[in-house]
Amino acid sequence: MSDVHNEAAAVAERVERRWATVAILIIVFLAGMAAFAGIHQATMPQTAVETIDPTTIHLQGEFIESNLGSAVEQDGSVTVRAIGQQYSFSPPCIVVPTQTPVTFRATSADVVHGFLIQGTNINTMLVPGYVSVQKASFDQPGEHLMPCQEFCSVGHEGMWAKVKAVDKQQFLSEIADKRRLSCAP
Ligand code: CUA
Repeated sequence: MSDVHNEAAAVAERVERRWATVAILIIVFLAGMAAFAGIHQATMPQTAVETIDPTTIHLQGEFIESNLGSAVEQDGSVTVRAIGQQYSFSPPCIVVPTQTPVTFRATSADVVHGFLIQGTNINTMLVPGYVSVQKASFDQPGEHLMPCQEFCSVGHEGMWAKVKAVDKQQFLSEIADKRRLSCAP
C-alpha cells in the first residue's frame, strides 16, 4: 500500500516539476522579450523623428494656417495637417474621405496636448518641437470626437475637435476647387 502511495507521490512530483519548468521558461521568455524590446528601442531610436520650431509654426513652413486641413496627395492618399494649442485644435473640424489612406501630421504650438480620434487607432501626443504622424483609414462615413486627452492646464476639458468622415466621392468633389479642406465654419 505504501509503495503505491510513494509511487503516486513520485509521479505527481515529476509532473509538477515538469509544468513548473514550462511556466518558468514562459516567464523567462516573456521577460526576455520585454527587455529586448525596451533595450532595442532605446538604443535604436526611430529614424523618422521630425522636429519643428514651435515658435514659428504660425509664420512659416508646413503648419501655416493656409496649409492646415486635408489635402489630396499625388498618390490619392490624404494628408491632414493640424495644430493643437491651448485650448483648441486648428482646424476645429477635420474632414476626411472614407476608404482612403489618411496620414495625420500634427504638432503643438505651446505645451503637450493629446491627439485622439474616438473609434480609430489614432492616439498620440502633440509635443512642441516635434511632428506627430499617425495613419488611419475610415471605412464608414460618420463623426468622431477628437478630445485632447493630455492635461494641458485649466482649459483642458474644453479642448476638442471633430473629425467627419464623408463619402470618398463627396470629399473629392468638395476639395476639387480647393487646395485644403476642413469642415470648420
Ligand atoms: Cu490640450 Cu488638454
